Amino acid sequence: MSHRILYNVRKLTKSYLMGEVTVHALRGLDMEIHEGELLVLLGPSGSGKSTLLNLLGGMDSPTSGTIELRQVEIGGLSERGLTAYRRKSVGFVFQFFNLIPTLTARENVQVAAQIADQPLPVDDALHMVGLLERADHFPSQMSGGEQQRVAIARAICKNPAVVLADEPTGALDYETGKLVLDVLIDVHRQSGKTVVMVTHNVAIGGIADRVVRLRSGQVQDVTENQSPIEPKDLTW
Ligand SMILES: Nc1ncnc2c1ncn2[C@@H]1O[C@H](COP(=O)(O)OP(=O)(O)O)[C@@H](O)[C@H]1O
Ligand SMILES: [Mg+2]
Repeated sequence: MSHRILYNVRKLTKSYLMGEVTVHALRGLDMEIHEGELLVLLGPSGSGKSTLLNLLGGMDSPTSGTIELRQVEIGGLSERGLTAYRRKSVGFVFQFFNLIPTLTARENVQVAAQIADQPLPVDDALHMVGLLERADHFPSQMSGGEQQRVAIARAICKNPAVVLADEPTGALDYETGKLVLDVLIDVHRQSGKTVVMVTHNVAIGGIADRVVRLRSGQVQDVTENQSPIEPKDLTW
Protein backbone atom coordinates (compact mmCIF):
# COMPACT_ATOMS: atom_id res chain seq x y z
CA MET A 1 0.00 0.00 0.00
CA SER A 2 1.45 3.37 -0.95
CA HIS A 3 0.76 6.47 1.10
CA ARG A 4 1.01 10.16 0.54
CA ILE A 5 3.38 11.61 3.07
CA LEU A 6 2.20 14.58 5.12
CA TYR A 7 5.27 14.91 7.37
CA ASN A 8 8.72 13.60 6.70
CA VAL A 9 10.92 13.75 9.78
CA ARG A 10 14.65 13.06 9.41
CA LYS A 11 17.48 12.80 11.95
CA LEU A 12 15.56 15.01 14.34
CA THR A 13 17.31 15.97 17.56
CA LYS A 14 16.30 18.26 20.37
CA SER A 15 18.52 18.95 23.35
CA TYR A 16 17.87 21.17 26.32
CA LEU A 17 20.70 22.73 28.26
CA MET A 18 19.82 22.56 31.95
CA GLY A 19 22.62 24.36 33.76
CA GLU A 20 25.59 22.02 33.38
CA VAL A 21 23.56 19.14 32.02
CA THR A 22 22.29 18.59 28.49
CA VAL A 23 19.03 16.65 28.22
CA HIS A 24 18.70 14.83 24.91
CA ALA A 25 14.93 14.73 24.41
CA LEU A 26 15.09 13.53 20.79
CA ARG A 27 18.08 11.58 19.47
CA GLY A 28 18.03 11.34 15.70
CA LEU A 29 14.40 10.47 15.16
CA ASP A 30 13.15 9.38 11.71
CA MET A 31 9.49 8.95 10.88
CA GLU A 32 6.75 9.66 8.37
CA ILE A 33 3.17 10.70 8.96
CA HIS A 34 0.71 9.76 6.24
CA GLU A 35 -2.01 12.02 4.86
CA GLY A 36 -5.35 11.26 6.47
CA GLU A 37 -4.20 8.74 9.06
CA LEU A 38 -4.92 8.55 12.76
CA LEU A 39 -1.47 8.10 14.25
CA VAL A 40 -0.77 7.42 17.90
CA LEU A 41 2.62 8.36 19.33
CA LEU A 42 3.06 6.01 22.24
CA GLY A 43 5.78 6.03 24.86
CA PRO A 44 6.53 6.27 28.55
CA SER A 45 6.88 9.59 30.32
CA GLY A 46 10.05 11.36 29.26
CA SER A 47 10.42 9.52 25.94
CA GLY A 48 10.12 12.76 23.95
CA LYS A 49 6.49 12.66 22.81
CA SER A 50 5.57 16.23 23.72
CA THR A 51 8.88 17.52 22.40
CA LEU A 52 8.18 15.86 19.05
CA LEU A 53 4.59 17.14 18.91
CA ASN A 54 5.69 20.70 19.70
CA LEU A 55 8.30 20.53 16.94
CA LEU A 56 5.70 19.21 14.48
CA GLY A 57 3.43 22.08 15.51
CA GLY A 58 6.10 24.72 14.96
CA MET A 59 6.02 25.73 18.61
CA ASP A 60 9.67 24.95 19.10
CA SER A 61 12.63 24.48 16.78
CA PRO A 62 14.88 21.43 16.49
CA THR A 63 18.53 21.31 17.55
CA SER A 64 19.25 19.50 14.28
CA GLY A 65 17.48 17.49 11.63
CA THR A 66 14.51 18.32 9.42
CA ILE A 67 10.72 18.29 9.45
CA GLU A 68 9.04 18.61 6.07
CA LEU A 69 5.34 19.24 5.69
CA ARG A 70 4.35 18.37 2.13
CA GLN A 71 7.95 18.82 1.09
CA VAL A 72 8.35 22.22 2.72
CA GLU A 73 10.94 22.31 5.47
CA ILE A 74 9.45 23.93 8.55
CA GLY A 75 12.91 24.80 9.89
CA GLY A 76 13.56 26.85 6.76
CA LEU A 77 10.60 29.14 7.37
CA SER A 78 11.04 32.72 8.50
CA GLU A 79 9.51 33.84 11.79
CA ARG A 80 6.55 35.14 9.81
CA GLY A 81 6.31 31.90 7.84
CA LEU A 82 6.35 29.88 11.03
CA THR A 83 3.58 32.01 12.53
CA ALA A 84 1.49 31.50 9.41
CA TYR A 85 2.19 27.78 9.59
CA ARG A 86 0.97 27.58 13.20
CA ARG A 87 -2.11 29.64 12.41
CA LYS A 88 -3.18 27.90 9.23
CA SER A 89 -1.82 24.39 9.23
CA VAL A 90 -1.96 23.17 12.82
CA GLY A 91 -4.86 22.50 15.17
CA PHE A 92 -3.57 21.72 18.66
CA VAL A 93 -5.42 19.95 21.48
CA PHE A 94 -3.81 20.18 24.93
CA GLN A 95 -4.12 17.93 27.94
CA PHE A 96 -5.67 20.69 30.06
CA PHE A 97 -7.95 22.09 27.31
CA ASN A 98 -6.58 25.66 27.52
CA LEU A 99 -9.86 27.40 26.74
CA ILE A 100 -10.15 31.12 27.44
CA PRO A 101 -12.34 31.25 30.57
CA THR A 102 -13.98 34.60 29.80
CA LEU A 103 -15.19 33.46 26.37
CA THR A 104 -18.10 31.15 25.61
CA ALA A 105 -17.59 27.86 23.79
CA ARG A 106 -18.54 29.47 20.49
CA GLU A 107 -16.26 32.46 21.08
CA ASN A 108 -13.36 30.16 21.93
CA VAL A 109 -13.82 28.44 18.59
CA GLN A 110 -14.28 31.76 16.79
CA VAL A 111 -10.92 33.02 18.02
CA ALA A 112 -9.19 30.14 16.25
CA ALA A 113 -11.36 30.48 13.14
CA GLN A 114 -10.39 34.14 12.87
CA ILE A 115 -6.67 33.45 12.58
CA ALA A 116 -7.10 30.61 10.09
CA ASP A 117 -7.02 30.89 6.30
CA GLN A 118 -10.06 28.88 5.28
CA PRO A 119 -11.88 28.05 8.50
CA LEU A 120 -14.93 25.82 8.74
CA PRO A 121 -18.13 27.47 9.94
CA VAL A 122 -17.81 27.70 13.72
CA ASP A 123 -21.18 26.11 14.39
CA ASP A 124 -20.32 23.18 12.09
CA ALA A 125 -17.27 22.50 14.24
CA LEU A 126 -19.35 22.68 17.42
CA HIS A 127 -21.93 20.38 15.85
CA MET A 128 -19.20 17.86 14.97
CA VAL A 129 -18.30 17.51 18.65
CA GLY A 130 -21.97 17.43 19.70
CA LEU A 131 -21.95 20.73 21.57
CA LEU A 132 -23.91 23.13 19.42
CA GLU A 133 -26.59 23.41 22.14
CA ARG A 134 -23.91 24.42 24.65
CA ALA A 135 -22.31 27.04 22.41
CA ASP A 136 -23.23 29.95 24.68
CA HIS A 137 -21.87 28.36 27.83
CA PHE A 138 -18.62 29.34 29.47
CA PRO A 139 -15.88 26.80 30.20
CA SER A 140 -16.65 26.99 33.93
CA GLN A 141 -20.18 25.79 33.17
CA MET A 142 -18.90 22.71 31.35
CA SER A 143 -17.43 19.40 32.46
CA GLY A 144 -13.83 18.51 31.63
CA GLY A 145 -14.97 16.24 28.82
CA GLU A 146 -17.14 18.98 27.34
CA GLN A 147 -14.31 21.48 27.56
CA GLN A 148 -12.04 19.08 25.72
CA ARG A 149 -14.68 18.65 23.03
CA VAL A 150 -14.77 22.45 22.62
CA ALA A 151 -10.98 22.33 22.30
CA ILE A 152 -11.33 19.70 19.56
CA ALA A 153 -13.86 21.95 17.79
CA ARG A 154 -11.41 24.83 18.11
CA ALA A 155 -8.68 22.73 16.49
CA ILE A 156 -10.77 21.39 13.61
CA CYS A 157 -12.52 24.67 12.75
CA LYS A 158 -9.19 25.99 11.49
CA ASN A 159 -9.47 23.41 8.74
CA PRO A 160 -5.82 22.59 9.42
CA ALA A 161 -3.48 20.19 7.65
CA VAL A 162 -3.14 18.27 10.89
CA VAL A 163 -4.64 17.97 14.35
CA LEU A 164 -2.01 17.42 17.04
CA ALA A 165 -3.31 16.21 20.41
CA ASP A 166 -1.04 15.83 23.44
CA GLU A 167 -2.53 13.38 25.98
CA PRO A 168 -6.06 14.70 25.27
CA THR A 169 -7.60 12.27 27.77
CA GLY A 170 -4.85 12.69 30.35
CA ALA A 171 -6.88 14.97 32.62
CA LEU A 172 -10.15 13.05 32.29
CA ASP A 173 -11.67 10.08 34.08
CA TYR A 174 -11.93 6.72 32.34
CA GLU A 175 -15.43 6.96 30.84
CA THR A 176 -15.08 10.62 29.89
CA GLY A 177 -11.72 9.85 28.29
CA LYS A 178 -13.31 7.19 26.10
CA LEU A 179 -16.07 9.59 25.08
CA VAL A 180 -13.53 12.23 24.08
CA LEU A 181 -11.62 9.63 22.03
CA ASP A 182 -14.90 8.77 20.32
CA VAL A 183 -15.42 12.42 19.43
CA LEU A 184 -11.85 12.74 18.18
CA ILE A 185 -12.28 9.69 15.94
CA ASP A 186 -15.59 11.03 14.71
CA VAL A 187 -14.02 14.36 13.81
CA HIS A 188 -11.16 12.49 12.12
CA ARG A 189 -13.60 10.48 9.99
CA GLN A 190 -15.89 13.37 9.15
CA SER A 191 -13.10 15.76 8.26
CA GLY A 192 -10.61 13.30 6.77
CA LYS A 193 -7.88 15.24 8.57
CA THR A 194 -4.64 13.70 9.71
CA VAL A 195 -4.67 13.30 13.49
CA VAL A 196 -1.56 12.71 15.59
CA MET A 197 -2.30 11.83 19.18
CA VAL A 198 0.24 11.42 21.95
CA THR A 199 -0.40 9.02 24.82
CA HIS A 200 1.50 6.95 27.35
CA ASN A 201 -1.47 4.55 27.52
CA VAL A 202 -0.72 1.38 25.53
CA ALA A 203 -4.42 0.45 25.28
CA ILE A 204 -5.25 3.69 23.46
CA GLY A 205 -2.89 2.62 20.68
CA GLY A 206 -5.66 0.21 19.68
CA ILE A 207 -7.77 2.95 18.09
CA ALA A 208 -5.01 4.12 15.71
CA ASP A 209 -4.33 3.28 12.08
CA ARG A 210 -0.66 3.20 13.04
CA VAL A 211 1.23 3.31 16.30
CA VAL A 212 4.74 4.77 16.49
CA ARG A 213 6.40 3.78 19.73
CA LEU A 214 9.03 6.13 21.15
CA ARG A 215 11.75 5.24 23.57
CA SER A 216 14.46 7.60 24.79
CA GLY A 217 13.89 10.06 21.97
CA GLN A 218 13.97 7.54 19.15
CA VAL A 219 11.43 5.43 17.28
CA GLN A 220 11.39 1.97 18.79
CA ASP A 221 8.91 0.44 16.37
CA VAL A 222 5.97 1.15 14.10
CA THR A 223 2.84 -1.01 14.06
CA GLU A 224 -0.03 -0.94 11.63
CA ASN A 225 -3.51 -1.78 12.91
CA GLN A 226 -5.49 -3.68 10.29
CA SER A 227 -8.70 -3.21 12.26
CA PRO A 228 -8.57 -0.40 14.80
CA ILE A 229 -10.71 -0.77 17.93
CA GLU A 230 -13.62 1.54 18.78
CA PRO A 231 -12.99 3.48 22.00
CA LYS A 232 -16.04 1.90 23.67
CA ASP A 233 -14.35 -1.50 23.31
CA LEU A 234 -11.10 -0.36 24.93
CA THR A 235 -10.23 -1.29 28.48
CA TRP A 236 -7.41 -0.03 30.62
N1 LIG B 1 11.66 22.76 28.16
C1 LIG B 1 12.43 21.77 28.61
N2 LIG B 1 13.57 22.04 29.27
C2 LIG B 1 14.34 21.04 29.72
N3 LIG B 1 14.10 19.72 29.56
C3 LIG B 1 12.97 19.40 28.90
C4 LIG B 1 12.08 20.40 28.41
N4 LIG B 1 11.04 19.76 27.80
C5 LIG B 1 11.28 18.45 27.93
N5 LIG B 1 12.44 18.22 28.59
C6 LIG B 1 13.03 16.91 28.88
O1 LIG B 1 13.09 16.17 27.68
C7 LIG B 1 12.73 14.82 27.90
C8 LIG B 1 11.50 14.48 27.06
O2 LIG B 1 10.39 15.21 27.56
P1 LIG B 1 8.95 15.19 26.88
O3 LIG B 1 9.07 15.44 25.43
O4 LIG B 1 8.10 16.11 27.67
O5 LIG B 1 8.51 13.66 27.12
P2 LIG B 1 7.06 13.00 27.18
O6 LIG B 1 6.08 13.95 26.60
O7 LIG B 1 7.21 11.72 26.42
O8 LIG B 1 6.80 12.72 28.63
C9 LIG B 1 12.50 14.67 29.38
O9 LIG B 1 13.71 14.23 29.97
C10 LIG B 1 12.18 16.09 29.82
O10 LIG B 1 12.53 16.30 31.15
MG1 LIG C 1 4.36 14.81 27.39
